[in-house]
Amino acid sequence: MTQEELFKVLVAHCKEYGYIFPSSEIYDGLAAVYDYGQMGVELKNNIKQYWWNAMTRLNENIVGIDAAVFMHPKTWVASGHVAAFNDPLIDNKDSKKRYRADVLIEDYLAKIEEKINKEVEKGRRKFGESFDEAKFRETNPNVLREKAHYEEVHGRYLKAEAANDLAEYRQIILDCGIVCPISGTKNWTDVRQFNLMFSTQFGSVGDEANTVYLRPETAQGIFVDYINVQKTGRMKIPFGIAQIGKAFRNEVVARQFIFRMREFEQMEMEFFVKPGTEMEWFSKWKEQRMKWHVNLGMGAENYRFHDHEKLAHYANAATDIEFNFPFGFKELEGIHSRTDFDLGNHQKLSGKKLQYFDPETGESYVPYCVETSIGLDRMFLAVLSHSYKVEQLENGETRTVLSLPAPLAPVKAAILPLVKKDGLPEIAREILRDLRCDFNCQYDEKDSIGKRYRRQDAIGTPFCITVDHQTLEDRTVTLRERDSMNQVRVPMAVLKEKINEKVNLNEILKNL
Ligand code: GAP
Repeated sequence: MTQEELFKVLVAHCKEYGYIFPSSEIYDGLAAVYDYGQMGVELKNNIKQYWWNAMTRLNENIVGIDAAVFMHPKTWVASGHVAAFNDPLIDNKDSKKRYRADVLIEDYLAKIEEKINKEVEKGRRKFGESFDEAKFRETNPNVLREKAHYEEVHGRYLKAEAANDLAEYRQIILDCGIVCPISGTKNWTDVRQFNLMFSTQFGSVGDEANTVYLRPETAQGIFVDYINVQKTGRMKIPFGIAQIGKAFRNEVVARQFIFRMREFEQMEMEFFVKPGTEMEWFSKWKEQRMKWHVNLGMGAENYRFHDHEKLAHYANAATDIEFNFPFGFKELEGIHSRTDFDLGNHQKLSGKKLQYFDPETGESYVPYCVETSIGLDRMFLAVLSHSYKVEQLENGETRTVLSLPAPLAPVKAAILPLVKKDGLPEIAREILRDLRCDFNCQYDEKDSIGKRYRRQDAIGTPFCITVDHQTLEDRTVTLRERDSMNQVRVPMAVLKEKINEKVNLNEILKNL
């Protein structure tokens, strides 16, 4: 199966097992908007809990808030979103379809890379064992021609991006002969900037003064509440404020399932520090956040940093944590040193003092800020795509299993009476009553035991507890582990302890 096919199968699996549904599907869905189903909401809540507890419980100097989605419109002037939260858009006059000009160029560049790789693969097949890839890339005329073209277009693209030169974007599209995938023509409009914020009206009068925005990031809620939290919480610098909440962006190119959505959730933490110490904190948070990811056990090799060379105007350092998604390494989390850009601008525009008085040095200053910002939905996709496996079993059958990190699994244990009679369901329900306050459990008595195991594997349940006739005699049960499929006979009395060892979130939090 190619990675692309695997991704399609994963999307179908998410729907079949109640993880993710297209929004308002009975009306044919709404582009780039998704609902989390009965399993999805549990996994999502567990990811949130892992992040929230790691931030607020493990750090004495980090507290959480929950700010409103609607904020005073001036917020977005101060943050720069009204002026500069834009995508460069271009329309094809024949198909009337709208595209992001930068994405059209990036896709074109990706195609050149693909051509080069195909050429290399051809060489590999032709020369077999003796193939020297590095030499081939340096000498093959086709590869050299494509490489030169790539460098020329890429160079122009980077310059246009840096200068925000919309006319040059269009010229690149024309010069490269990029066509609309729908109409197949090069009949393009000019490139225009398009603001990504959703707006709506407050109150009943629909004039511009009443325009409010759905927040495009949760961070600004933290910045405008900074002084309230600092004062009421008697917080001393350095300290952080964490928040989980919805954000909204009118993404033009919304694709790759829940990777890029129009309504999504962010988990953001703004850490306020003394100016001049921000680089030290930036490094600490880089290290800390990578540790949080790797601690889940999904393989350190699946993460990497991507340090930004080109910085946003407000940042003096920035990196992404990228994850190896089925469609390649892509941004999962951003870590930015945002200087005093946000607090400084809010102070100017609101006229309210947002300075911190340092009792030890007697100085007052606007704090600098280091931000960690992760998309909850992207994290969900990372966990799910990494966990999805189709395994070939020894008996020739296949099984689909979600090898989710056990503390994140929606259902921790399934309790299965072997048959629906002879008093087995009664004992199974007794176990359920005993476990359900500690763990999310499922009771299932329908179908053969094999089919029930497969259902639980497919939703990622770490443990299945089977109650059989021997249970009636000695109060022991079979405990089956999802990944190894190993079964052990254990007394009912030790179930809680055995399951807890593997699924308790605190067990992994302790390693941070
Ligand atoms: N406050 C900083 C900020 O919002 P960002 O890089 O635009 O920075 C942070 O977003 C994270 O939010 C990203 O790393 C990504 O995980 C997530 N994210 C951004 N746009 C998204 C979208 N349209 N759909 C899903 N997640 C998104």
